[in-house]
Amino acid sequence: MSAMLKRLARLFATAAPAAASAAPTVAARTGGILIENLRKVYGRGDTAVEALKNVNLRVGPGEVVGLVGPSGSGKSTLLKCLGAIIEPTAGRMTLGREVIYDDGWKEKDLTVLRRDRIGFVFQAPYLIPFLDVTDNVALLPMLAGLPNAQARARALALLTALDVGHRASAQPSQLSGGEQQRVSIARALANHPPVILADEPTAPLDSERALAVMRILNQMAAQAQTAIIVVTHDEKIIPTFKRIYRIRDGQTFEEAGQGLSL
Ligand SMILES: Nc1ncnc2c1ncn2[C@@H]1O[C@H](COP(=O)(O)OP(=O)(O)O)[C@@H](O)[C@H]1O
Ligand SMILES: [Mg+2]
Repeated sequence: MSAMLKRLARLFATAAPAAASAAPTVAARTGGILIENLRKVYGRGDTAVEALKNVNLRVGPGEVVGLVGPSGSGKSTLLKCLGAIIEPTAGRMTLGREVIYDDGWKEKDLTVLRRDRIGFVFQAPYLIPFLDVTDNVALLPMLAGLPNAQARARALALLTALDVGHRASAQPSQLSGGEQQRVSIARALANHPPVILADEPTAPLDSERALAVMRILNQMAAQAQTAIIVVTHDEKIIPTFKRIYRIRDGQTFEEAGQGLSL
């Protein structure tokens, strides 16, 4: 581990001393997402925007669901609420058996919730520029207490599965946009979080690679009983979902998907 990485690890460790254990508790590992009557209003008064009016959604452990809707319909807002990045205005959110929000946060440490229980794949990759590709992916497992060699081996296995193993020792700036995106997907999977939230993960990828990403997400869901929400309007991957939530004007509508096998 480089000196820089060690410093970074210490920083995170002081912020969150509970990170010492590599084995998450049973409760934390129990997957599944339930969202009930969720509302989010940005701002107040005349300029208030009701981004989520009434969102109801469930994702079982081992399931990958699509969240599909036009621009401005509330997709990113929903993922940010669920990921504890912003605070909802009202409603209820449950992860596994634990109610994390019920007209207010019920979870006292949102940093730990975000770090240990939720994997994010954003539109922009947000890789750490001074760490090589492997360390970008290995960082979270290291911070969670996995020995460095094991964390790096896990990172390399994920990078290889995502077809970027040959870039393992490159710096993020040396990668193409599509390669960076695949590294950020590997990073989201590295800690085996019980919940993965992906915002347009396949947008920069060609058809074959987009389907490869969906294959990996589906394998991950099945093997680790992860609950995965994929925000998308990528026509290449929409047929792969068994279940889809359409979102319009801050309201969700459930429908069956084609569930094409990958
Ligand atoms: N920080 C914010 N402040 C005020 N309004 C916002 C903010 N973020 C998003 N919105 C508004 O909330 C609505 C939903 O936005 P968003 O969740 O980003 O939609 P999507 O991801 O589906 O494009 C839009 O009307 C958007 O303009
Ligand atoms: Mg968005």
